[in-house]
Amino acid sequence: MKNVVILISGRGSNLQALLKENLGCAIRAVISSRMDAAGLNHARAQGIPVAIVANRDHPDRESFDAALAAEIDHHDPDFVVLAGFMRILTEKFVMRYQGRLVNIHPSLLPAYPGMHTHARALADGVKIHGCTVHFVTPDLDHGPIIIQAAVPVLESDTEHSLAERVLREEHRIYPQAVRWLCSGKVRLGMDGRVINEGGVTLGTSLISPALEVA
Ligand code: GAR
Repeated sequence: MKNVVILISGRGSNLQALLKENLGCAIRAVISSRMDAAGLNHARAQGIPVAIVANRDHPDRESFDAALAAEIDHHDPDFVVLAGFMRILTEKFVMRYQGRLVNIHPSLLPAYPGMHTHARALADGVKIHGCTVHFVTPDLDHGPIIIQAAVPVLESDTEHSLAERVLREEHRIYPQAVRWLCSGKVRLGMDGRVINEGGVTLGTSLISPALEVA
């Protein structure tokens, strides 16, 4: 069975969604970049070892990433899963876990990398938004895509209502992506593209608006 370490920084709703599912792997530890991350309680409630590697305790990204890698390696994971981990990682760190490091991002990448994705989508007036699970590469929020889910953007949406709709999809697709990884159905090919033998069938989250009949 594969070993997984999950990294968080805050609320931990994606962590909670992952912990609820049978992922076919052993979650060896949850590591937080913040001591006060609420998500740590979800791990503690299930008896999963937790560790804090606080960015505040480190003068620069290099020393933070070195401490983080040391803590991760202590648990000997096959995969490192970023679940609301809000630190930008150095190239050295990312390359150390190449093909084994995945992230969930609240937009349909490559649209809206970075922060405030829902506000930016609303400001642009896009009609479709969503979330993406991808392999992490040194290019922030641009790694090879494993799975995405789309949601409609409604006239009445606020940043909060749109975030909630996207988050429901995050909680569906992240467990699927981690299950695929741990079963070996998904991997990063030598050419940097995702190989997916898991197959995707059409589900309710694909958006295709009905047209008005003339
Ligand atoms: C999630 O929406 C996740 O996609 C996002 O932070 C939120 C964490 O929520 N991640 C990023 O923006 C990473 N760039 P959670 O702590 O409840 O899972």
